[in-house]
Amino acid sequence: MGRFDEKVAIVTGAGRGIGRAEALLLAAEGAAVVVNDLGGETTGEGADQRPAQQVVDEIIAAGGRAAANYDDIAQWVGGQALVAQAVDTFGGLDVLINNAGILRDKMSFNMDEAEWDAVINVHLKGHFTTSRFAAAYWRQCSKEHGAPVDAAIVNTASESGLYGNGGQVNYAAAKAGIAAMTIVMARELERIGVRVNAIAPVARTRLTEAVAGGFMDPSDGDFDRFAPENAAAMAVWLATEDSAGISGQVFAVGGGKAQLLQGWHPATQVEATDVWSLDSLTAARDDLTSGRATGVPPFMPPFEG
Ligand SMILES: NC(=O)c1ccc[n+]([C@@H]2O[C@H](COP(=O)([O-])OP(=O)(O)OC[C@H]3O[C@@H](n4cnc5c(N)ncnc54)[C@H](O)[C@@H]3O)[C@@H](O)[C@H]2O)c1
Repeated sequence: MGRFDEKVAIVTGAGRGIGRAEALLLAAEGAAVVVNDLGGETTGEGADQRPAQQVVDEIIAAGGRAAANYDDIAQWVGGQALVAQAVDTFGGLDVLINNAGILRDKMSFNMDEAEWDAVINVHLKGHFTTSRFAAAYWRQCSKEHGAPVDAAIVNTASESGLYGNGGQVNYAAAKAGIAAMTIVMARELERIGVRVNAIAPVARTRLTEAVAGGFMDPSDGDFDRFAPENAAAMAVWLATEDSAGISGQVFAVGGGKAQLLQGWHPATQVEATDVWSLDSLTAARDDLTSGRATGVPPFMPPFEG
């Protein structure tokens, strides 16, 4: 008995790295998996069907069910076709793991338009194209059955976006946007039975091999803390019944550690007695920027679904 018997899953960017490990784990737990991968370079250029096909072959050789998909999830029609393929091939969709990614690192003052657009498109738009069509599919299922579905989206953010890594303004902005999208879609989809969470992984893959030096090497005689499988397990767990009730959350996972991350919240509050002016803001500056926690709620009212 697998945790995902009779379930259908999509993993984007599943030809390599963390996505590959996610697809293999889902399949080992009984899911039919649509293995999406364009097969591009780390910068997003080029295309190669072999990485996705190899993962499909591996799953089938182990007795599992899988189909390859080579669509570009940065395209609206790519996300749509991917969701449609899962439903047409395996009869439904239960789990969507958004993972595909590229890097085009530059300091902000040296970045060109193509570097900005490519990274925002693959990560931020590429998370939304699939999520949008999966959400529409689940909403339709929920309407037809008059009951919530039981489905999960797991996104892939990054500490780079949440803590603001220099040299990655395009990537960090996209990843912070993905964390925000996770919270928004968790609120929007709660009523139809879809949970939405994100991981912020650290793992040894081709994306990090070039920049991480030796610190991710599995050489200390311990278990392989930076194996992609470590990060993949958290993403897949967030789609199991064992994580029921968890939604709108971001978990860091890497190096054998896991953390619940929490983001923006009001840390201070000052109040005006008249329209804010430059002078009254200067007078309030110390109280406003002191960073003392006050427990005050945000201005935004709660979402009523
Ligand atoms: N490895 C880390 O330590 C780390 C840290 C933080 C975040 N992440 C995130 O984890 C995810 C996976 O990264 P990885 O390290 O496994 O990298 P990877 O390069 O090994 O795998 C990413 C895969 O995505 C595919 N892909 C890229 N653009 C695509 C597109 N438009 N359509 C379909 N497939 C596409 C690539 O072909 C590649 O196989 C990324 O979102 C990355 O930003 C990784």
